Amino acid sequence: MKKIGVYTSGGDAPGMNACIRAVVRTAIANDISVVGIRRGYEGMIAGDMIDLDSRSVANILQRGGTFLKTARSEEFRTPEGRAKAMEQLRKRGIEALVCIGGNGSYAGALKLNEEHGIPCVGIPGTIDNDLYGTDFTIGYDTAVNTALDAIDRIRDTADSHDRVFLVEVMGRDSGFIGLDVGIAGGAEGIMIPEDKEDIGKLLTHFSQEDRRTKAFSIIVVAEGEPEGGAARLATRLLAEYPNLDIRTTILGHIQRGGSPTARDRILASRLGYEAIQALQKGLKNIAVGIINGYASYTSFEHAIHNKKSVSHELLRMAEVLSR
Ligand code: F6P
Repeated sequence: MKKIGVYTSGGDAPGMNACIRAVVRTAIANDISVVGIRRGYEGMIAGDMIDLDSRSVANILQRGGTFLKTARSEEFRTPEGRAKAMEQLRKRGIEALVCIGGNGSYAGALKLNEEHGIPCVGIPGTIDNDLYGTDFTIGYDTAVNTALDAIDRIRDTADSHDRVFLVEVMGRDSGFIGLDVGIAGGAEGIMIPEDKEDIGKLLTHFSQEDRRTKAFSIIVVAEGEPEGGAARLATRLLAEYPNLDIRTTILGHIQRGGSPTARDRILASRLGYEAIQALQKGLKNIAVGIINGYASYTSFEHAIHNKKSVSHELLRMAEVLSR
């Protein structure tokens, strides 16, 4: 193997740059040259690619976002789109791919392999932490810390005004961010997609006698929670308890930006390094991950079709600690 392509795909995540740097420098140390594919599968189809050397990835370790840019591509979902992409890869002499992204990105790489035979190794990059085959994904730790910083600030103003704040964090399909931020931020309620009874618990919470001794409340709401997010929950709560002074804050994309934490930089560096080791061993269509501190491989099939679950024990613990 003489030449590989690397790309970032789906939502960006802090630490993606650190990961690209690790991929490029590990490949070069193994006499493999690297092409950076810009804008994920969109750029692959358009042939938007640049040669990368050690110096092209200097001074990016600490930067959020992804200097290769990213996109969600509709055209790549079609066989014609994938054939165009493969044509561009052939033109460049690219023999294997390293894909940094989430489930949809792995699924795209697997399709490309099934139809055109090009091997790929995936690296879990998403703030949501919802990928099977790794304890943590790149960007998750930074996103949790960014959201936590916001919650600490909101707590000050909630306290001053004796208000209830519903703070919405990201997590379209999963509550990893919501749960961790809720525990670390001392939230009185944590509303996540995995907890189908959360609205009942919330309404009970505000009906309780002891709630009246607490002047203010922070409720962390994952965007994918069953009721449809913080704004809808606020409406439900107000209908039931018109005297509550409620405010809603949606943290949104601030959770995706910013300089990666040390944990994310180290995780991203390890995973980038491990991806090249895996390719060198002849592995393909697998995602690398770190489980209990050790590098591990999970087939794309497995990673795509299995769901990593949040800890319901931690959810129970958070309920006890919030009383
Ligand atoms: O998958 C990461 C994520 O940040 C989700 O938590 C969120 O629902 C989604 O991306 C938002 O995507 P976009 O930036 O395309 O609106």
